[in-house]
Amino acid sequence: MNTINHVAIIMDGNGRWAQQRSMPRWKGHEMGIQAVRRVSEAACRQEIPILTLFAFSSENWKRPAEEIRILFSLFQRYLVAERQSLIDNDIRVSAFGRRDRLPLFVGEALSSVEEETGSCKRLHLRIALDYGARYEIVEAARALANEVAQGKLDLEQITEEGFMRRLASDGVPDPDLIIRTAGEQRLSNFLLWQAAYSEFYFSSKLWPDFEAVDLEEAIADYRSRTRKYGALACAAG
Ligand code: FPP
Repeated sequence: MNTINHVAIIMDGNGRWAQQRSMPRWKGHEMGIQAVRRVSEAACRQEIPILTLFAFSSENWKRPAEEIRILFSLFQRYLVAERQSLIDNDIRVSAFGRRDRLPLFVGEALSSVEEETGSCKRLHLRIALDYGARYEIVEAARALANEVAQGKLDLEQITEEGFMRRLASDGVPDPDLIIRTAGEQRLSNFLLWQAAYSEFYFSSKLWPDFEAVDLEEAIADYRSRTRKYGALACAAG
């Protein structure tokens, strides 16, 4: 049976959830936050050490300004409201992605939750915010090129491991399982490097409807698979 260290989720379908109920799109995002709470607690119960959630992509800036404003204010409210419960549940929160374009109030709320939950151990809840994998890869390439230009690194010393150390996921194992909700089957610029050997699970449920049992089903499905990493089944790790 496959072990599981890291689950990543592309939370999709908030807008459709709201539209189906003739509600404004932000209502779907609000319910999406409740699903974040449920699924984080379920991840704790299922002893998953790392949960990464794609909350805001670098492409989401193309949405109407009002939707972006509401999304960020919901993030901030979540971080403030959940602070004590995260600490009580021993959940460490950290965010990755660009910080320089986030509203100040979001950056501040993030920094304080990251600091206050920094020593929590039960679950590492990673939030991708203003994240795009291509940008992350270009930044890593730029960092390496800079070190070569400065004579700190030889071209021959550039390795996969060295490249990985310059990604935002430095030190975090690659996701074993990537779940996407709402019936969509694409990566949308999420963890392109890290997904090299991830297993994929697509759920038809809209994110606000995603329950603990859906996570359990995804994990059971993952555990039943054969991971080969390019080797033969009997030799795979
Ligand atoms: C995709 O649904 C969802 C988003 C772009 C935002 C996801 C954010 C949350 C659920 C809140 C997360 C909060 C924290 C604190 C992690 P969509 O709007 O693209 O849905 P649609 O495809 O049906 O329109």
